[in-house]
Amino acid sequence: MHENILITGGAGFAGSALALSIKRRFPESRVYAFDNLKRRGSEMNLPRLRAAGVEFVHGDVRDLSDLLALPKMPDLIIEASAEPSAQAGYGGSPQYLIDTNLMGCYNCLELARRSECDFFFLSTSRVYPYRMLNSLEFVETEKRFQLTSAQSVRGASEFGVAEDFPMEGARSLYGMTKLAAELMVAEYADAYGFRYFIERFGVLTGPWQMAKSDQGVVALWVAAHVLKKNLAYIGFGGQGKQVRDFLHVDDFCDLVIAQIEDFGAFHGKRLNAGGGNAVSTSLCELTQLCEEVTGNRLDFRSEPENRPADVRVFITDHRQLSAIHGWKPLRSAQSTVQDIFEWVRANETLVRTLITN
Ligand SMILES: NC(=O)c1ccc[n+]([C@@H]2O[C@H](COP(=O)([O-])OP(=O)(O)OC[C@H]3O[C@@H](n4cnc5c(N)ncnc54)[C@H](O)[C@@H]3O)[C@@H](O)[C@H]2O)c1
Repeated sequence: MHENILITGGAGFAGSALALSIKRRFPESRVYAFDNLKRRGSEMNLPRLRAAGVEFVHGDVRDLSDLLALPKMPDLIIEASAEPSAQAGYGGSPQYLIDTNLMGCYNCLELARRSECDFFFLSTSRVYPYRMLNSLEFVETEKRFQLTSAQSVRGASEFGVAEDFPMEGARSLYGMTKLAAELMVAEYADAYGFRYFIERFGVLTGPWQMAKSDQGVVALWVAAHVLKKNLAYIGFGGQGKQVRDFLHVDDFCDLVIAQIEDFGAFHGKRLNAGGGNAVSTSLCELTQLCEEVTGNRLDFRSEPENRPADVRVFITDHRQLSAIHGWKPLRSAQSTVQDIFEWVRANETLVRTLITN
């Protein structure tokens, strides 16, 4: 198995969860969580990482010398550092986004080239072009927009969006950085002969997600209900009917661990991973779940105008991944909301300082 595992963005939501799970699963391995702590709240994960025996390295993926200064050359890199907001770069400069998501990934690949190690890249459903997604056939019900089963676009069906969905058109500045990085990962691996796989995740969520208004919607919704902070339905008419599927962070960690244990089966693959239809909710439905779990009701502002690159419905068709590995997510939307609720309740003071909406 891998002896020296580097997780970039290792103090972030996905990275820290992975670092903790991997260290639990492979206690003999050295696990390095590398992070510049740019994400507000990521520093709150440091005591948890330390207590579990994960070694924190304060560094920046934009600087190759930070990566080369690691105590050991890695035999596995998990690239989970990013500016992860689909709104990043709009109304300002995209420089940090591009420097981190694209150039940072390039630096990680340089490290992979020099150490000839395995490479796992966390990509996103945001690589799919948003206008094409918004052109899919849908019906509007009282609580949600729903894709219809008859779709004429390749890769779209009642199961959601599959990997062969057309790629022409804009996808958000964030999605562009991730798609460009995907290409770079595949090209580097081919040129320099190391193993890799890429996973395109939909919405990831769960306890310890330091939500903000433009990223981490499920955790934001739950925390706002607990803390009684009002929210807004933004875009697509402002009624909260947009739909996403989401993946509980424990399902995510179980999946990635199974994959790194069987790396060869995934080498060269680029797969969708997400909750799928069964774990999809609209914002209205998420509000209802939050009300049931917290017992609190909020006032909602309505802002009908779409934000840049916004998507009406995204459901992950993960049948390719399931076919390789028999994988399917186990946690329901309800239990995910319940888990986040319990975390917020247990860490209310911390969450109050972090959650901005
Ligand atoms: N959360 C989701 O819903 C989701 C969905 C799809 C894909 N992803 C991908 O998963 C990965 C992890 O996302 P997340 O949700 O954990 O986000 P996050 O913001 O919680 O974690 C990212 C971490 O990267 C760190 N970071 C940012 N810039 C850095 C830099 N220049 N150098 C070093 N570290 C830096 C941040 O401090 C943060 O701790 C990202 O690649 C993201 O694109 C996330």
